[in-house]
Amino acid sequence: MKPTGMDLEAVLARHGRAPHRLVQILREIQVQQLWLSRDTLSAVARELGLSLAHVEGVAGFYRFFHGQPVGQYRVLFSDNITDRMLGSGDLMHELCHLLKVESNTMRADGRVSVATTSCTGMCDQGPAALINQHQLVTRLTPGRIEHMAALIEAQVPAHQWPVAWSRVDDQIRLADVKLGPQPAPGQGIAAALARGPQGMLDDIKRSKLRGRGGAGYATGTKWQLCRNARADTRYVVCNADEGEPGTFKDRVLLSSYADTVFEGMTIAALVVGARQGLVYLRGEYRYLLDALEATLARRRQQGLLGASIQGRAGFDFDIEIHVGAGAYVCGEESALIESLEGKRGTPRIRPPFPVESGYLGQPTTVNNVETFSAVTHIAVQGGAWWAGIGTAQSTGTKIHSVSGDCARPGLYEYPFGTRIGRILEDCGARDTQAVQVGGPSGVCLSALEFGRRIGFEDVPTAGAFMVFDRSRDMFDVAHNFAHFFAHESCGFCTPCRVGTELVLRRMDKLKRGYGSGEDVQVLYELDKLMHGTTHCGLGAAACNPLRDTIAKFRPAYEQHLKSLHFAPGFDMDAELSQARLATGRDDSGAHLETLA
Ligand SMILES: Cc1cc2nc3c(=O)[nH]c(=O)nc-3n(C[C@H](O)[C@H](O)[C@H](O)COP(=O)(O)O)c2cc1C
Ligand code: SF4
Repeated sequence: MKPTGMDLEAVLARHGRAPHRLVQILREIQVQQLWLSRDTLSAVARELGLSLAHVEGVAGFYRFFHGQPVGQYRVLFSDNITDRMLGSGDLMHELCHLLKVESNTMRADGRVSVATTSCTGMCDQGPAALINQHQLVTRLTPGRIEHMAALIEAQVPAHQWPVAWSRVDDQIRLADVKLGPQPAPGQGIAAALARGPQGMLDDIKRSKLRGRGGAGYATGTKWQLCRNARADTRYVVCNADEGEPGTFKDRVLLSSYADTVFEGMTIAALVVGARQGLVYLRGEYRYLLDALEATLARRRQQGLLGASIQGRAGFDFDIEIHVGAGAYVCGEESALIESLEGKRGTPRIRPPFPVESGYLGQPTTVNNVETFSAVTHIAVQGGAWWAGIGTAQSTGTKIHSVSGDCARPGLYEYPFGTRIGRILEDCGARDTQAVQVGGPSGVCLSALEFGRRIGFEDVPTAGAFMVFDRSRDMFDVAHNFAHFFAHESCGFCTPCRVGTELVLRRMDKLKRGYGSGEDVQVLYELDKLMHGTTHCGLGAAACNPLRDTIAKFRPAYEQHLKSLHFAPGFDMDAELSQARLATGRDDSGAHLETLA
């Protein structure tokens, strides 16, 4: 389909015809056109002065961009293991049956296509689906599926479907600092201005705040490096990609506590000397965009964004929001910056790190949504107060996105140092076999380890807490995660591109019941091969669930093996203890003494 001159001109004008806005431009055109034809891409390339190969390369990278028609209705079922446990597979099958369409294929009349997508961040209220990439449907039931099929056949636009279907609840079960009462808008900025940029930086260091995006890098050090980098222009970027399956805390912070997050970004700008901030909002959370824009507009009116913030001459800062287009790897900070610059989300070679050369080549601090929320509370209450919460190396609180086999899924905020077992008790989990902490990239804990504690000293986490009771097959869990990594590998480096695919093929073989001990052995060898050879953290973590589940839930694998035959010289038990050593974990809870 050719874009009308009007469509294209309006979109290009809105983005100042800037080539680095390419991802946003393509996203907006696709909302109107439903797919991106070669004519469309040629027109965009011509107007932006880019080569067609570049524009096609970018369009081809993101899962939510389509180079072929996908139908008037595109239904994507969230494929996280927790959605599966809630019956998403059967529901998708039923919808395909009712609509007489094969999955992953557009119906001949061009009406509809049905497929899966990686976790949509609705694990506490699944099974969920995404309609036309911007409308979520939560709590799917057979009744809703039947009704949905009828609405699609009647060509009722998705925005006219029952409002209740798109209801997304916060489900805050336990609140501490970040989910409790919030400072009034501007209170954190006033406190930061009173201290001055250096004083505020000193206080962030005093708080010992560590980033909540996963790696746990010291926020004060990161800001200091950005502040000290030689440049006239600096940027503050909020990482709201939240693509790790099982994680949905940033969704709630953005939907109900956006002021606190934007305020944290503004304080960061004061410290590092930035005049522009960017929020990278994952495509699945597009439904939050209007409310977030309204909050930004109100903050501008309140003098909390824009020129001379709170009357301080020279303190100018504003925030804009970029919406992603379905690529988990774009949560990695350098890939995220590439995407912000309108390119494929391929992680950069580092050094230089973003604090030296980030967005548009300028020093950039990238921080997680929850990190910025913490900053505002620290500005108001002081670094020493924050350092007094949690443990020696993990100060403050952490929000957990709890889902899976428990009576009360939702958000739980605890000081660092909390026992896994305590979280299980609070969420009403029974007969628990395993917990996957930190998502597929994190660690899978068996019941022997429920005495371990959340914290960088013991069990680090970006926030996902998925619970599996004894009825679950842990092989299926690892199989789902293997599928996730193979699907999300960006393909840039061979060990990850090929390795994740080979892992998936072996797991598929085991699933079909054709596997032997040798396949398990090959999986081990792939894990070793990929470890330390991949370009970014996605490939490095891709075998974590595999290694954990083989080591801790071996019978789950054995029941899928046709034979237990291993190649000569392969000692499974030695490999298992090696794996435990390699991950720095054992089942004894020996790390506990490091925590207060
Ligand atoms: C594959 C991959 C995906 C990531 N996804 C996210 C994400 O969705 N959100 C996030 O904040 N950090 C994510 N990270 C970590 C970021 O690269 C970065 O460390 C983080 O945004 C820094 O913020 P912090 O210092 O506040 O933790 C990811 C890292 C990798 C390797
Ligand atoms: S490790 Fe995987 S995701 Fe990361 S750059 Fe290599 S191929 Fe891409």
